[in-house]
Amino acid sequence: MHHKIVVICMLVVAIATTVVQSGNHGEQDEAVVALGRRLFYDPVLSVDQTTSCGTCHQQFAAFAHVDHALSHGVYGRIGTRNVPALQNLASRRGFMWDGAIEHLDMQALSPLTSHAEMGETLPRILEKLDSVGWCRTLMTQAYGSPDITIPRVLRALGRFVATLESRSSRFDRWHAGQDTLAENERRGYDLFRAYCASCHNGIDFTDDSFRSNGLPLDSLLMDHGRERVTLDEQDRYRFKVPSLRNVGRTMPYMHDGRFKRLRDVLAHYAQQDDLADHADPLVRSIAPLDDRARKDLIAFLLTLTDEAFLRDTAFGEKEVWE
Ligand code: HEC
Ligand code: HEC
Repeated sequence: MHHKIVVICMLVVAIATTVVQSGNHGEQDEAVVALGRRLFYDPVLSVDQTTSCGTCHQQFAAFAHVDHALSHGVYGRIGTRNVPALQNLASRRGFMWDGAIEHLDMQALSPLTSHAEMGETLPRILEKLDSVGWCRTLMTQAYGSPDITIPRVLRALGRFVATLESRSSRFDRWHAGQDTLAENERRGYDLFRAYCASCHNGIDFTDDSFRSNGLPLDSLLMDHGRERVTLDEQDRYRFKVPSLRNVGRTMPYMHDGRFKRLRDVLAHYAQQDDLADHADPLVRSIAPLDDRARKDLIAFLLTLTDEAFLRDTAFGEKEVWE
């Protein structure tokens, strides 16, 4: 097991070096993104040709997977974590619930080769892409030569997901003085600033830190979170503070999808006696939230829905096949 991890790490370093060394020379940004989008929606990249990135990351759900607590991959294999939304990733410092991945242009290596996601090997991916007509053409448009390489594939996927930008919710328009919020939404925003923005901070409602929000351990999944990456016991049960943009559409919630509705999330934060020992002090300092406070908070969270983003045809699957 450890041997395998070492080999994977060495591979990651080797590819990272190649990605960095190959630089951006002669790269056509738009064509790289177009290639990435084509790859994102193509199930050919998975071992049984059933599962694309877009299977799990659905645009109408801000690229999360609606109604699936744990991710579903090839051959119906169930993963161990909830599919996170993909949005404003260019502004994030780390990726995955535990921050295991630091570079977006490397991230795709994980789902492509993960047993429970796309389950494929890198040599077979190259073989398959070599046998489809469009790939050499798009590679040439993107990178100036038809060579199909793993660093090019990874970079294209990374550049495409980096374009998924959601910054035009009703809340953003209100913030820019171009729209209004109702009374209850304003009250919700005030509560949010008082109790939630300590962690869900900044333009994307995350401070990019890893913390425990007090969820009791799921004894089947036994997910230790950030500790897996840092091997520091302090990081046990800590997970990335997620962005809350489009949170009204990304259900279910939390790293293991344990909550189906925002109501359940608010009940968790409001019921302080149920918090696990490892809860961050900032969660412990949330005042009891009565029914009205919870509803107001939800009303505010729903103003973070960005309809334009969820429907933007530049990110969608349809045109890819035309
Ligand atoms: C089987 C479902 C599944 C498939 C297929 C899949 N993903 Fe994911 N994706 C996930 C899950 C689950 C996570 C969270 C993993 C973790 O935290 O360990 C994730 C995380 C990510 C993240 C990090 C997001 C963040 O905010 O940290 C990115 C980026 C991403 N996926 C892109 C892709 C790309 C690109 C592909 C295709 C090459 C892909 N995914 C295929 C389920 C999937
Ligand atoms: C101590 C920092 C902290 C505070 C304070 C906090 N949260 Fe969180 N929040 C987190 C972390 C960490 C997660 C992810 C936990 C996990 O998946 O295990 C999270 C997850 C969530 C999610 C689920 C998002 C998703 O995509 O799954 C919602 C919704 C949420 N918080 C809303 C709130 C609200 C509303 C408040 C205030 C009442 C609040 N949070 C206060 C740290 C915090």
